[in-house]
Amino acid sequence: MTEQVLVFDTTLRDGEQSPGASMTIEDKLMLAHQLERLRVDVIEAGFPISSEGDFESVRRIAQEIRTVTIAGLARSSKGDIDRCWEAVKGAAKPRIHVFLATSDIHLKYKLRKTREEVLETARWAVEYAKSLCSDVEFSAEDSTRSDLPFLCQVIEAVIDAGANVVNMPDTVGYTFPTEYRERILYVRDHVPNVDKTILSVHCHNDLGLAVANSLTAIQNGVRQVECTINGIGERAGNASLEEIVMALRTRKDLFGVDTGIDSQQIYPSSTMVTNLTGMIVQPNKAIVGKNAFAHEAGIHQDGVIKEKLTYEIMRPADVGIKESKLVIGKHSGRHALKKKYEELGFQLSDAELQKAYNLLMKVADKKKEVHDEDLIATVRNALRVAPPVYKIKYIQSTGGNQLIATATVILEKEGQAMQDSATGDGPVDAAIKAIRKITAVDSKLEQYTVRSVTGGTDAVGEVFMKVDFGKVAFIGKGASLDIVDASARAYLDAFNKLIHYQAALEEDQAEAKSQ
Ligand code: KIV
Ligand code: ZN
Repeated sequence: MTEQVLVFDTTLRDGEQSPGASMTIEDKLMLAHQLERLRVDVIEAGFPISSEGDFESVRRIAQEIRTVTIAGLARSSKGDIDRCWEAVKGAAKPRIHVFLATSDIHLKYKLRKTREEVLETARWAVEYAKSLCSDVEFSAEDSTRSDLPFLCQVIEAVIDAGANVVNMPDTVGYTFPTEYRERILYVRDHVPNVDKTILSVHCHNDLGLAVANSLTAIQNGVRQVECTINGIGERAGNASLEEIVMALRTRKDLFGVDTGIDSQQIYPSSTMVTNLTGMIVQPNKAIVGKNAFAHEAGIHQDGVIKEKLTYEIMRPADVGIKESKLVIGKHSGRHALKKKYEELGFQLSDAELQKAYNLLMKVADKKKEVHDEDLIATVRNALRVAPPVYKIKYIQSTGGNQLIATATVILEKEGQAMQDSATGDGPVDAAIKAIRKITAVDSKLEQYTVRSVTGGTDAVGEVFMKVDFGKVAFIGKGASLDIVDASARAYLDAFNKLIHYQAALEEDQAEAKSQ
């Protein structure tokens, strides 16, 4: 059997640290189920000590996902490790992932600790985590800028303390493949107990080398790779899961190793991450970009028509891209709807499918075609999460270069209509100000992205926005033929998430009081 490389997915932790990528607990659960279908080996579900929301989502993922190892991140302190264990202990296969920086830069400026203190803390942290959980990973943060003999000392100590996996992250995306190779070989040569652990890498993409560095590490004996869907993550992101997996598979002649990933789930996973985070993949992104399998040049088209092998090293179907897109309308059946949902990355139970079908046929009665947006909103709002509290009933806006933009909005809440108007810097601003007046909650728009889903000037526009409501921020998504309407829907989507979040928080507080 081909030797396997373990895939450790950190989309829900490092990926979620991308500016603007925050997800709700329900979104995270949905993605965790998709990662299980993708057959990753480890899901890093979050950083439990960082917030109540992170703790709760790790806890729920640990309870629901039974076939994959569920890891939580913890600094090397008792408080962090205890909180992490509390969150992951319900998992079928729990893991505590502790980290501590080992570079002199981090020691001097961030930790203000000596090398001796770091060595002792690392050893203690792994020993303590191990007393709680049989699977412990240690990460030497900023390992690629750490003094090599000292790094080896730390690695030896944490393996002695029981670390099942030792990770050597390129935290700041600084290293180069040739240099990383030397570093890994040095560790393998100078750490006497290295064979008692699995070596892992975790590469950031600041110089665009995260995937190249990860692949080099695999070529040099590393057997766990940490990565994210679409390469999202802190700053320039993390190594992209789909690129690593497809490189190993396409060039098995070169690597001689494989992963357990079901590659046909790559595209649905990518689509789901885009839909949940609002972070749109660039069209020329390898593997999952819109143009990744598109041939524009005449010579290429001619070649591909004659024989695909001329210009295609992978088939779109290998990564789960369907050649003919299914269109859902009035005459579609349940089977087509189930398939369409699978294309979008959702696996529905029979009961969910029936409910979605009934709801969507009502939409299809009004529109010729049901858009992906309607399908996703149905799952998120009607099946998996409580239905939206506020809905848009009416919106009218005026704008232009000679007019003061004005908008009138009517929202519906529990059957009651509420109306207000506002002026603003453009019709979108005016519409959102009108909604703010009705809902009486202040907010700041942190991010606004619009893209066309279909072609032409009559295209359906899709708006993603991140709305900061003070203590928390949510991503909202809306689609419409009218960009102001799509924007108002996106804003309301984020606002409805706020309401559900507050209700859940109140429930938790009431429960805590009654105990
Ligand atoms: O980039 C990094 O070093 C990390 C560690 C916590 C693994 O994310
Ligand atoms: Zn990282």
